[in-house]
Amino acid sequence: MPGLIERYRDHLPFAPEDPIVTLHEGSTPLVPAPRVSERAGVEVWLKLEGANPTGSFKDRGMTCAVSAAVREGADAVVCASTGNTAASAAAYAARAGLRGAVIVPEGKIATGKLAQALMHGARVIALRGNFDVALTLVRELAQRHPIALVNSVNEFRIEGQKTAAFELIDELGELDALCIPVGNAGNITAYWRGFQEIGHHPRMLGFQAAGAAPLVLGAPVEHPETIASAIRIGNPARWEDAMSAMTASNGAIQAVTDEQIIDAYRFLAEREGVFCEPASAASVAGLLAHGARGAERIVCVLTGHGLKDPQTALERAGTVVPCDPELTAIERAVLG
Ligand code: F0G
Repeated sequence: MPGLIERYRDHLPFAPEDPIVTLHEGSTPLVPAPRVSERAGVEVWLKLEGANPTGSFKDRGMTCAVSAAVREGADAVVCASTGNTAASAAAYAARAGLRGAVIVPEGKIATGKLAQALMHGARVIALRGNFDVALTLVRELAQRHPIALVNSVNEFRIEGQKTAAFELIDELGELDALCIPVGNAGNITAYWRGFQEIGHHPRMLGFQAAGAAPLVLGAPVEHPETIASAIRIGNPARWEDAMSAMTASNGAIQAVTDEQIIDAYRFLAEREGVFCEPASAASVAGLLAHGARGAERIVCVLTGHGLKDPQTALERAGTVVPCDPELTAIERAVLG
């Protein structure tokens, strides 16, 4: 498959002669989830966005944001990030030959994401403050300097990410509800825009971690906390857009506890063979905890790959079995 700008150019603000920066993102697997379906009592599909080139849905927005930055003559891109945007921005900046700088909350991003941003040669800045503080600062920075801001406040990010909605309709024809984790609220905004553009209106069911649930509480959270570090956000930039997607689609934004997130995270890995990161599992956790609101065919978006966060996985999984190099010992270890 080509990259998503080529695949969906009719719906995107790029002309055939524009420079395109792509890693052939998008066209990700949509797989049925029989065990989740059984537990939820409805037909559930999983959209595996971890299959994108850098392991998260951010690549959909980044191909557009970085292509636009090149078209505008920028020589650097910058973002605030809980990790995945940083990894994606760093990769696409490398691909485009641009400088990249990413601001992340110190000590609060998953190991895999940090490794990616560093490997791609971005300047990684560990801020002694949370994501919300980082985003405020980076917005100011981008106003003062000729640097392209590639957070989801950038319209091109939303444009790219809306293509996931097109893929769902291309494949399924119809769905009743979309379950999706919500952090800075760019992705729920993008899906809703995509569905609307092609005349579809599934319920948008957004889920925030209970310790970082400003949209559920109706007020910013000053010190957001959750094991799902990707969505540890207290004041989403796309607040209004997310609320109107929820209202217009007759959907809901609800909270899930860290325990519910980890339960879904492990269930997906152990029973469906699908390893996503904790924040992604919030979509399935939400469906299991709050129900489908009358919807019968549901897609849960699994936003990032499980390998992004090996530390959480190792803390929550079983242990390895030590073994001497002898047949009887192996027999005991394997069969015992
Ligand atoms: N899932 C994952 C794996 C994420 O990395 C994010 C956001 C979300 C869900 C929520 O999406 O912000 O559009 O509502 N990660 C951003 C980042 C904030 O910096 O990587 P959203």
